Amino acid sequence: MRLLVINGPNLNLLGVREPQIYGTQTLADIENDLRASFPDVAFEFFQSNHEGAIIDVIQSTIGSPYDGILINPGAYTHYSYAIRDALAAVSIPVIEIHLSNIHMREEFRRHSVIAPVCKAQFSGFGSTGYRLAVTTLAHSHHTTQTS
Ligand code: DQA
Repeated sequence: MRLLVINGPNLNLLGVREPQIYGTQTLADIENDLRASFPDVAFEFFQSNHEGAIIDVIQSTIGSPYDGILINPGAYTHYSYAIRDALAAVSIPVIEIHLSNIHMREEFRRHSVIAPVCKAQFSGFGSTGYRLAVTTLAHSHHTTQTS
């Protein structure tokens, strides 16, 4: 299974950025943890602070052998129709991840324009959410392969 893991703006600052909300692990820690937890999965990791760069990498999965996308779109979650449209354009499953529980935070964070084009959303599980998302995609991948 090949998965693309996309992290959006400010997630390169994990570890130093509001650790009381986002935890003390760095993005590299989370990525290394995924590689170690799922040795059979081929991961491609991408982080950008730029909306267009995120859209380009989502589009790059069209016609490539990816089996799914994990995305933490950061604040783009709440207003990027362009990222939502890009995710809607690809046919592989997408899972949305947030370290914090966006539903118990400020009003503007409670709405995701990305969620309607995703198979699932993990929000508030901290970095465990990334592992839960991989497990979810691995399960559906397995089910698809064997049915
Ligand atoms: C976040 C939640 C967003 O509201 C915020 O803008 C982020 C991180 C999370 O992982 O909890 O940058 O996506």
